[in-house]
Amino acid sequence: MLPKKLTKRLDERNAKNALRTLKTQNDLVDFASNDYLGFAMSSSIFDQAHQILTQNTLHHNGATGSRLLTGNHKLYIETESFLARYHNAESALIFNSGYDANIGFFSSVPQRGDMIFFDELIHASIRDGIQMSHAKSYKFKHNDLEDLSKKFEQLTSKNEEHQHSGDVYVVTESVFSMDGDSPDLKEFVNLSKTYGFFLIVDEAHATGVFGANGVGLLQQLEVEQEVFARIITFGKAMGCHGAAVLGSKILQRYLVNFARSFIYTTGLPVHAIATIQAAYGELQRTDETKKLMENIRYFRQKLKDYQIASLCIDSNSAIQCCIISGNEKVKKIAQGLQKKGFDVKPIMSPTVPLGKERLRFCLHSYNSKEEIDEVLKLLATFV
Ligand SMILES: Cc1ncc(COP(=O)(O)O)c(C=O)c1O
Repeated sequence: MLPKKLTKRLDERNAKNALRTLKTQNDLVDFASNDYLGFAMSSSIFDQAHQILTQNTLHHNGATGSRLLTGNHKLYIETESFLARYHNAESALIFNSGYDANIGFFSSVPQRGDMIFFDELIHASIRDGIQMSHAKSYKFKHNDLEDLSKKFEQLTSKNEEHQHSGDVYVVTESVFSMDGDSPDLKEFVNLSKTYGFFLIVDEAHATGVFGANGVGLLQQLEVEQEVFARIITFGKAMGCHGAAVLGSKILQRYLVNFARSFIYTTGLPVHAIATIQAAYGELQRTDETKKLMENIRYFRQKLKDYQIASLCIDSNSAIQCCIISGNEKVKKIAQGLQKKGFDVKPIMSPTVPLGKERLRFCLHSYNSKEEIDEVLKLLATFV
């Protein structure tokens, strides 16, 4: 039994061909997972994590409590110091997931009277965090710095009454999860300096992918010191679980005191922390990132060869999207590719705006050139 209103919502979603259902994993060629480097399946990381646990004589199954009570094992502290050094930050604070990090950060940092400007395509976890905050929020057009400055100017200099005295937070992603594209981060940094914005960048899909040893896009551009906070996540290229906020020591102290998704939850178990350590070890040892980059280059070249590049969003990242408008149509083409053995997911509205439905290809270091060639050849015949 479900209240009538809820049944109606489900029926409406079904009528729009947008009903979400859970499916079990399949053994198709992987063009869908976030496991960009194959780390989630790596037995070397698995063994390494086990070794870290045995070396530390750790046989814990769970963390036993919030990190503020009984859950803060020394492996956490060690890993956070490592992450801070690796990512050239003053401090790192581990959260249970990227979702938790974003809702914890955005619900606690911006205060009443402050403003938050966010890219219109920002991830749901950031939107949810913003909704929980008492600050006013405004969206700007995707990757559009001009729109951001125009909106900021309009809101702050309209008249005396609207003169703004609060802090201004600006948030974007270094790789957009549903488009795969990136903003001009250097320009975001410059603008933030000009106006005194606090800039926050979610690096979920850049961690392990961009920069030397997968340090992320901000570090690749050498502007990591110029942002107020970075969110990195371990569930994508790192193949494990969890996330961290990188920033100043005082920001870390603030979050420990006020971020409710950090305080009121059981910490990650130590084996999750050991796996993060092991995954970073692997990142420095292997050349999976290079293989991924080569596959991205090859995929983009093949899009041109098959004359379907114009359908796709320009992206240098592991996320490559071909716009196919309409839930029904995109679903049908995805099913066609799946029948031929390729796991390519349709991304439908309302996850993306109406008319911007798409096929989302996630590329991996372990995809072969033949697989890329074959799937794009098929796509070209379908469209
Ligand atoms: C940009 C972005 N931020 C945050 C998250 C959430 O990360 P997690 O899966 O660790 O909760 C995701 C992934 O869903 C994401 O794409």
